Amino acid sequence: MRVAVSDSQYFHLQTMTTSYIFRVIENGSLGHVYYGKKIPIKDKYPHLTLVEERGFEPYNDVNNTASQPSLMLYEYSSYGRGDFRHPAYQVSLENGSRISELVYDSHQLLPGKKKLDGLPSTFANDEDAITLVIKLIDPLIGLVVHLSYTIFENQDVIVRSTHFTNESSKDLKLLRAMSLQLDLPNSEYDFIHFSGAWLRERYWNKTPLRSGIQSVDSLRISSSPQQNPFIMLANKETTEDYGKVYGFNFIYSGNHLEQIEVDHFGVSRILVGINPLDFSWTLSPGDSFQTPEALHCFSSEGFNKMSQLLANFYHEHLVSPIFSKKERPILINSWETTYFDISTTKIKTLADTAKDLGIELLVIDDGWYGHRDNDHTSLGDWTEDKTKFPEGIAHIASYVHSIGLKFGLWFEPEMVSQESDLYRSYPDWRIEVPNRQPCLGRQQFVLDFSRKEVVDNIFSQMEKIITETKLDYIKWDMNRHITDLYSLTLSNNKQQEFAHRYILGVYNLYERLIHAFPSILFESCASGGGRFDLGMMYYAPQAWTSDNTDPIERLKIQYGTSYGYPLSMMTGHVSASPSHQTGRKTSLTFREQVSYFSVLGYELDITRLDSTAYRQLKEGIDFYKSYRNLFQYGTFYRLLSPFNQNVVSWQVVSPDKTKSVVARYQILSEANPIPATLIFKGLDNNKSYKIEGLDEIFTGDELMNAGICLPLSPKAGERVINVSDFKSWLIVVKEYQPVGLVTKNC
Ligand code: DGJ
Repeated sequence: MRVAVSDSQYFHLQTMTTSYIFRVIENGSLGHVYYGKKIPIKDKYPHLTLVEERGFEPYNDVNNTASQPSLMLYEYSSYGRGDFRHPAYQVSLENGSRISELVYDSHQLLPGKKKLDGLPSTFANDEDAITLVIKLIDPLIGLVVHLSYTIFENQDVIVRSTHFTNESSKDLKLLRAMSLQLDLPNSEYDFIHFSGAWLRERYWNKTPLRSGIQSVDSLRISSSPQQNPFIMLANKETTEDYGKVYGFNFIYSGNHLEQIEVDHFGVSRILVGINPLDFSWTLSPGDSFQTPEALHCFSSEGFNKMSQLLANFYHEHLVSPIFSKKERPILINSWETTYFDISTTKIKTLADTAKDLGIELLVIDDGWYGHRDNDHTSLGDWTEDKTKFPEGIAHIASYVHSIGLKFGLWFEPEMVSQESDLYRSYPDWRIEVPNRQPCLGRQQFVLDFSRKEVVDNIFSQMEKIITETKLDYIKWDMNRHITDLYSLTLSNNKQQEFAHRYILGVYNLYERLIHAFPSILFESCASGGGRFDLGMMYYAPQAWTSDNTDPIERLKIQYGTSYGYPLSMMTGHVSASPSHQTGRKTSLTFREQVSYFSVLGYELDITRLDSTAYRQLKEGIDFYKSYRNLFQYGTFYRLLSPFNQNVVSWQVVSPDKTKSVVARYQILSEANPIPATLIFKGLDNNKSYKIEGLDEIFTGDELMNAGICLPLSPKAGERVINVSDFKSWLIVVKEYQPVGLVTKNC
């Protein structure tokens, strides 16, 4: 990692394999030069900055007709001075003007990467990162903007954010404040994004860039299952293992926008940040505004490499070191097991069975508090339901702990039911516009988390239960999107700050809980994977991937999710067959083998299994435990995609390349099928390997080039066999070291 600043005012950020270059243009603004595979550091790059004057385009320097902003690649573009593309920021003045223009003032190079205050953010110590801060100013209006760029040792990710300060004597209003801008000189890319809905989150979508604006966004005060903030731009020929791809993500959980504008000269402008629609922020004299962080990454070795780079980065610099790289417990969750029908006896029996099976954590999901027998009531009342647990929830917790399991509870801290003591005491704490009946979602209202007293109240309630039960785990759910945006405590001219202030309130509660109870493992959830974003992952290192636990549908959900997020962030539970979401029947083997490629859990009534299923489940848990590190933190490869074929396959490889597991899932059975060969990835060319169940010894290069023929119907080489539709295989590969062979270092 290196940052070079040349005499000609070029800034060159070099990561492990990439270069990111920008410069101060003759008129003082900051122009983008290059982003891609690493190139040498030079004083200047005139061959990359050639701009020739064009007719019709306005110029912003009256003495230089070639200073035409619409021809420039910018680092952080302004509005209203000749660059007609959508800008990175916009500000309005008391006199009604919305025009400003930023010029370079100075820069600073700082060691390390500081966390942001009140926002989730990346971090690094002084030896592992360099932060370049560029100060831009608009002296006419007193606006100061700091652009922050951090690069990290042995990483290919660049983290960006923007900080605004009003140094004038009058109010300024930010109308948009994007976290990052990247102008790429061409548009020969496919735009890949991960869209969906409840029960079908993060499906892969690919569309060629075209002239004009393409974007994904959210206005739900949630990153949403509809449009995930992770996006990629890839060359047409890019595959999983070859070709160039840029990845972008946003470390934020609220309204977001990822936009690509292809202009009339084929330039692609990428903007990532808080959705400007219904956003503004008043900066009184001396006030500042810090945007959330966004990041980008470049791989010249295809999508698999991009995902691996990101996974490694998140484990090192985003997820709390208390949990990052630590093996996560296997859990049993009560939701699809018994829904609201829980009691002391049921939970104790569940705990006893879980313990015998080798499960490590028992989670009581929705239904343990207030009078919650259905979803019409009790949100906001975080005290135990004495009709279900007459001896109290602390009694259950202590029983669960006494038999050697960890204990977890479900909360939905941001919500309130009309039928609740909290609502009766503080009816004006719900979000609503004066004189307008607020929309309901799942029978519930949303608390105004922009208000400190609301967050304080929920914190105190949670703190009490956590202390009484010595909780090890919390599932933090959020089951509706937010409407009727308004806060009774914000002045009229600050109402457009509400969406961001709400998310700051959510982060504040997380921050306080994590500070008070650092060893609690949080799992975020929003009706499944509706808030699967890096903002959440900073506080809650794992997320419930989807409410859809049908393993066939999970193939698409987990495959799509894997592009932007590692397996350690995805939780996957073995549930009952027929599936509660689709009614589809699948074998226990298939369900297990899909869930293994995530943080494993169970969500079915394990107290009613027949003896064969019970034995299989127990063996399955043992199997997962012996490969848990590989499944949660191994290098993940996508082999065959569920988005265009009947056979799906993926693989994990240990960092030292001595172990690997490949899964192959055949969705529908085929008569007289075309023979298949399995080509492995990620092994060591020179190591010898043994495939469990086969006698032959292979070298890595043999397995990765020639591969092995797969039998038409499962025989040797598979861990488990099942028949008909929905067949799955696990192939376990281990380094082979002949007995008696002594390795010596010379
Ligand atoms: C939605 C979640 O995604 C489910 O797992 C479960 O926790 C329910 N909410 C409980 O209401």
